[in-house]
Amino acid sequence: MTGCIKMPQTHLSAIALEKAYRKGKLQVPVLRGVEVQVRRGEFVSIIGQSGSGKSTLLHLLGLLDAPDVGEILLDGQRIDDLPRQDRDRLRNRVFGFIFQFYHLLPELDLLENVLAPLMIRHSVWEYWKRRKEFRDLGRELIAKVGLEHRLSHKPSELSGGEMQRAAIARALVAQPEVLLADEPTGNLDNKSGREIMDLLSSLNEGRQLTIIMVTHDEALARQAHRTVRLAEGRLQVQREAA
Ligand SMILES: Nc1ncnc2c1ncn2[C@@H]1O[C@H](COP(=O)(O)OP(=O)(O)O)[C@@H](O)[C@H]1O
Ligand SMILES: [Mg+2]
Repeated sequence: MTGCIKMPQTHLSAIALEKAYRKGKLQVPVLRGVEVQVRRGEFVSIIGQSGSGKSTLLHLLGLLDAPDVGEILLDGQRIDDLPRQDRDRLRNRVFGFIFQFYHLLPELDLLENVLAPLMIRHSVWEYWKRRKEFRDLGRELIAKVGLEHRLSHKPSELSGGEMQRAAIARALVAQPEVLLADEPTGNLDNKSGREIMDLLSSLNEGRQLTIIMVTHDEALARQAHRTVRLAEGRLQVQREAA
């Protein structure tokens, strides 16, 4: 019964991650031995200067890209070296992503954008069979992010803050365990940025969603439980959990 006494649980961790990009004939190292452990239900912020490798790290953690050296572990099991199909499955089911520029599809309305991950995941037949259930779920999440009055609006009819809320609802529709957010407020005014942060905090508390958020704004970073800084390819403690 060891599972019952393993507290607190490490949800996602990185061991000795290294990543370099080729520039012409040069190998430019970006990550040089990143170590991080994130507990289930924790909200961690990563700060660092532009170009320090924050997006690179987030992509490795969410299996969008592979490290040159090192390991990614989910619940203590290595995941970065799994067969491609298994990695695809984890990426779609375990991780939810939100980005600075929202990446909504301009032709689709809000509800369709939020449901897009389910359309992609299921066969046409399966989707049509369950479409009422899915649309109800989509509407529920849209209400949760405060956009119930915008259901049939296109992204071009939404403000930046509303588009980011929509992107968060879309990330949640796949019921992820870990939300990876790359500068989610980077394109928003202060007020909308704070509202998005409040929404992330409430999702973290209400759903025990593990959140790893990249930002270059120290004030926003403080809203997470703790903050780590990426500099010279490594992570350092910036602020411990209270
Ligand atoms: N796909 C890529 N190919 C080549 N270089 C890249 C690529 N992605 C990022 N880089 C470089 O790696 C460094 C870190 O980038 P990034 O992770 O985007 O930093 P941050 O998100 O902290 O601004 C930068 O110097 C960037 O130019
Ligand atoms: Mg970045």
